[in-house]
Amino acid sequence: MTDFLNGAKRSMMCGEPRGTDTGKRITVMGFVAKYRNLGNLLFLDVRDRTGVVQVAFDDSCAEDVFAKAATVRGEYVVCCTGVVRSRGSNVNAAMPTGEIEILADDIKILSEAETTPFVIADDVKASETLRLRYRYLDLRRKPLQDILVMRDKITRTVRNYMADNGFLEIETPFLGKSTPEGARDYLVPSRIHHGEFYALPQSPQLYKQLLMIAGMDRYYQIARCFRDEDLRANRQPEFSQIDMEMSYVEDSEDVMEVAEELVKKLFRDCLNMDLKEKFRRIPYAEAMERWGSDKPDTRYGLELCDVSDIAAGSGFSVFEGAVAGGGSVRGINAQGLCSSMTRKDVDACADFAKSCGAKGLAYAMLKEDGSVTSSFFKFLSEEKIAALKEKLGAKAGDVLFFVADADDMLVKTVLGSLRVYLADKYSLYDKSKFDFLWVVDFPLLEYDKEEGRYVAVHHPFTSAKVEDIPLLDSDPLKVRANAYDMVINGQEAGGGSIRIHDCKMQSKIFSLLGLTDEQISEKFGFFVDAFKYGAPPHGGLAFGLDRLVMIITGTDNIKDVIAFPKVQNASCLMTGAPSEVDGKQLAELALEIEKK
Ligand code: AMO
Ligand code: AMP
Repeated sequence: MTDFLNGAKRSMMCGEPRGTDTGKRITVMGFVAKYRNLGNLLFLDVRDRTGVVQVAFDDSCAEDVFAKAATVRGEYVVCCTGVVRSRGSNVNAAMPTGEIEILADDIKILSEAETTPFVIADDVKASETLRLRYRYLDLRRKPLQDILVMRDKITRTVRNYMADNGFLEIETPFLGKSTPEGARDYLVPSRIHHGEFYALPQSPQLYKQLLMIAGMDRYYQIARCFRDEDLRANRQPEFSQIDMEMSYVEDSEDVMEVAEELVKKLFRDCLNMDLKEKFRRIPYAEAMERWGSDKPDTRYGLELCDVSDIAAGSGFSVFEGAVAGGGSVRGINAQGLCSSMTRKDVDACADFAKSCGAKGLAYAMLKEDGSVTSSFFKFLSEEKIAALKEKLGAKAGDVLFFVADADDMLVKTVLGSLRVYLADKYSLYDKSKFDFLWVVDFPLLEYDKEEGRYVAVHHPFTSAKVEDIPLLDSDPLKVRANAYDMVINGQEAGGGSIRIHDCKMQSKIFSLLGLTDEQISEKFGFFVDAFKYGAPPHGGLAFGLDRLVMIITGTDNIKDVIAFPKVQNASCLMTGAPSEVDGKQLAELALEIEKK
């Protein structure tokens, strides 16, 4: 039989009582984390989201109270009243409330509980699958609760900061038209308009620009976004952005400054860290050249080195062919790693490089004793070997890796990925350090070989740098965008751009992207029309809120920062979504399922 609260009021949270509360009569409520019955003495550890407190029952309480307390089991929900007393010599220093206990005189059992499918403990042993199935139980664990508490603090800090800087919080629709973010849309069939679909927003991009045209001046939203893309450790099909847009800005720095100050405030308020220095600005071309990535982690070295000049005419056909084919040969020096790596480890690196698209990975292990194991030195002259070593600053104990390909971008990105792989695998950096930077001057366009046309690197509403506008006609791939990404610890934390606000320029970009007038009008007609009636110059940015929470709480699993996340195949293990719907619902939507 369970009890009613019957007017009982909680007077303290479980994590609150301290030695200074000794003598107070208090009431706490929570889940039973642990129970111990020593016959004439009984202890319950009662837990709520603020912590755990020990409640003791002894012969000072009424017999029926003691008897009831003795029926309590793990995860029962209880209400306990009693007087705070010192634990004397039995202080538990590991518990914030460990100085005291509550000597109870009353207990209410508010709910009984079956044995849980796994033990609810900080360092849980159960599999992630089981925990996600019973997510509400997993969320009772302190590490996950602490993250959600921090997430709340972060969103509150964001809201305060944005309000203080004149941004209005405005909601935009979920049921909308496909947006141009470039991932696959989640579609919602219309019951009223058979055969027609809403698209869930990949981001509020078009709406926020329309809000600038509507004269809202500064907008922000903590916006849920939906993208049907392959999931990874830092991606979910639905995730949240701190999305912002501001009018009367023309220079990337205007937006970057607002965003940078927000991140500094978050680190100050949430982590007590004072980030004084302005974040580094790194042009995209430099990021690719030095780190092989548009989101470099610069906490460690392993920088890329172009050795194409040495590779040309080296006599090694793989190297010569790559350079002759218009590509490059580049290398990285994994300094001092020779003693930590076996041949098998090096082969694993080669497999990794191949999984990133490389045709092979050439290596040289320069052993401490002066001997060398290399996959390709046998093809090179002494002079070429010496030149390679010199260019990479190699010495005994180092391992050198090289990628050659006719596609220079591929060479860079493979080595960029190998760099991260090595740094993670061999712990080449201090994980407690943070690395903040901006990547700027992205190219506006890239060429999509499959589609045979230019595509926007960011999105089609991003403006070109003024000085590069003449290149739109002569050499479009050389045009740099007014776009910027904030990168923290090698993760893209946020990105944005200064937008095009001129109809003629927008038409020009659309035609460069190979869109016909018909396509433009069908896809973004309402949007293009809006620019005819006066559009302030504007720009903005969106942070991935989940990623910021991950970075601030130090987890590398995005599921940890979302109350009810999806797994790799985009399903929810708790609810079973997605699931089949009944025939009646399908009929209303005029949909038929093709059975495979
Ligand atoms: P973008 O597509 O770069 O820009 O997205 C902005 C930020 O959102 C985060 N993010 C994700 N986080 C978790 N799971 C995902 N699947 C996911 N996809 C993106 C990243 C990213 O930096 N409308 C533009 C912004 C603008 O131009 O103002 C946009 O959406 O941290
Ligand atoms: P092979 O002559 O094919 O035996 O190659 C000799 C070495 O060069 C092997 O270690 C290969 O993995 C490596 N290699 C092959 N192709 C490439 C490439 N595109 N870039 C770098 N190394 C390569």
